[in-house]
Amino acid sequence: MIDGGVEHTGTPTAYNGGHSHEQSFRFTHADFLAIAAIVRNETGISLKPTRSSFVYSRLSRRLRTLGLESFAAYCELLIQDGQSAERRALVSALTTNVTAFFRERHHFAYLRQRLIHTLAPRVHAGGRVRLWSTACSSGEEAYSMALTVLSVLPDATRYDIRILATDIDVEMLETARLGLYTRASVREHCRDTASLHWETGTDDRLQVPEAARSLVEFLPLNLIGAWPPLGTFDIIFCRNVAIYFDFPTQTALWRRLCDHLPERGLLSIGHSERIPSENIPGLHLCGITTYQWHPS
Ligand SMILES: C[S@@+](CC[C@H](N)C(=O)[O-])C[C@H]1O[C@@H](n2cnc3c(N)ncnc32)[C@H](O)[C@@H]1O
Repeated sequence: MIDGGVEHTGTPTAYNGGHSHEQSFRFTHADFLAIAAIVRNETGISLKPTRSSFVYSRLSRRLRTLGLESFAAYCELLIQDGQSAERRALVSALTTNVTAFFRERHHFAYLRQRLIHTLAPRVHAGGRVRLWSTACSSGEEAYSMALTVLSVLPDATRYDIRILATDIDVEMLETARLGLYTRASVREHCRDTASLHWETGTDDRLQVPEAARSLVEFLPLNLIGAWPPLGTFDIIFCRNVAIYFDFPTQTALWRRLCDHLPERGLLSIGHSERIPSENIPGLHLCGITTYQWHPS
């Protein structure tokens, strides 16, 4: 851990011409603070000083790739105009992308219930349904929503049902669009979707069934930045992302998401996230980490 200007002495090993050698980069507390400020500004993610080893290990690869000798040089590069590509690489390096199909399964049970009782009858009557996975990472969350839709409405692609899947990390979005996952992850989490055909793709990975892929659109979106016109969503999943934001940023995000919920719309958040009800009147806990919007 870095404190009071003490330098990091991390010694990641680089491979070079068949000989491994030790390589380390000068990393001061001031460098950590500069990077934390850039990350906060770009993403809303609040990096505590206890995360300095994490920052060092995630970014030393970038320094090596760029041929830089110190974090100070990297910080200088980041603040130059025209370095938006490097700032995107910084975001990709420092975001935590852990996810899984049907993670926190109870949310998919609520989605299924809402589909059976409200949303399927609505689309059968010619109405529309919109769902949003707000921090979709490599796509498993959005595809799990799509697979849940198909479990209730096998012919969902004939109706006006769409799932918007967004993330700040454009590298993750590219992975998500491919829809290719290891057999182990599909076998472990998608047992109930056996009736759908998962095609074998490259590297012996399995590709999400075409019907599920066609329900989802992946787009870049920064939850703390400007949003395009989005309309409302019957159900929003905003899970395991606000945990990285400070409290005022979280509260502003919850308020903003409520602007995109219709009356009785649902907002599901991550297992370690909470929305203090006094902060958002109208948002009521109605299930495990799931809130219903009743503004009136
Ligand atoms: C731990 S993953 C959560 C994935 C999924 N929602 C789940 O619960 O399994 C967190 C995701 O939030 C994204 N993220 C972080 N800051 C963001 C921001 N400001 N706007 C949009 N996405 C962000 C990261 O890129 C990462 O993919």
